[in-house]
Amino acid sequence: MFITLEGPEGSGKSMQMYDLAEFVRLQGFEVLTTREPGGTFIGDQIRHVIMRMDNTMMDPRTEILLFCAARAQIVAELIRPNLEKGVVVISDRYADSTLAYQGYGHGLDLETLREILSFATGGLKPDLTLLLDIDVEEGLNRRKTGGGEWNRLDAQQLEFHKRVRQGYHEMVKADPSRWRVIDAGQTPQTVQSDLRKAILEKFGG
Ligand code: TYD
Repeated sequence: MFITLEGPEGSGKSMQMYDLAEFVRLQGFEVLTTREPGGTFIGDQIRHVIMRMDNTMMDPRTEILLFCAARAQIVAELIRPNLEKGVVVISDRYADSTLAYQGYGHGLDLETLREILSFATGGLKPDLTLLLDIDVEEGLNRRKTGGGEWNRLDAQQLEFHKRVRQGYHEMVKADPSRWRVIDAGQTPQTVQSDLRKAILEKFGG
């Protein structure tokens, strides 16, 4: 069972993921959590190149290929082998982040991106994707005041982040059976309980 968490900046995904993993473990499953970009020795090196504040000249195409390179590695090294063993894998971001950020955000052709993503992942798709949805300005403010990591991508325009959020909503509309939308503007406890409910609903208790 492959579950992914998606959302715009400051949606609290990373914070929620660990409690969620604990919850799934208590249901008797073995759980692996991963994060993108990164999550492997090679992927963490790629993450460093993507996130460097002084890499401002990076072309969006370079950026895509780096995200996809890190993803190819984590799918091959961790995600696929664990799914085959029956482990529940929960990933903080996955291919939908590339469609949202590089596709809807930077305006790169969505069909081309889907082909690159399919190559990178070998066609592996999540069984369930939880969208932690939050107002863009509120999310970015949380990031600034919450002491979170302030990276090159955070510094981009508000408009960009609005397109990202809109892109997520379009993906939900196009494939509603895979997605569940969670209101991430609520208290962390309520968000966690909505996430748990969504998992139980999807997998029938
Ligand atoms: P990170 O610090 O992990 O942020 P977050 O907690 O929001 O996940 O940084 C990941 C950043 O990279 C985030 O701004 C989203 C962006 N990103 C893409 O643009 N494309 C992608 O394919 C992925 C995986 C992430």
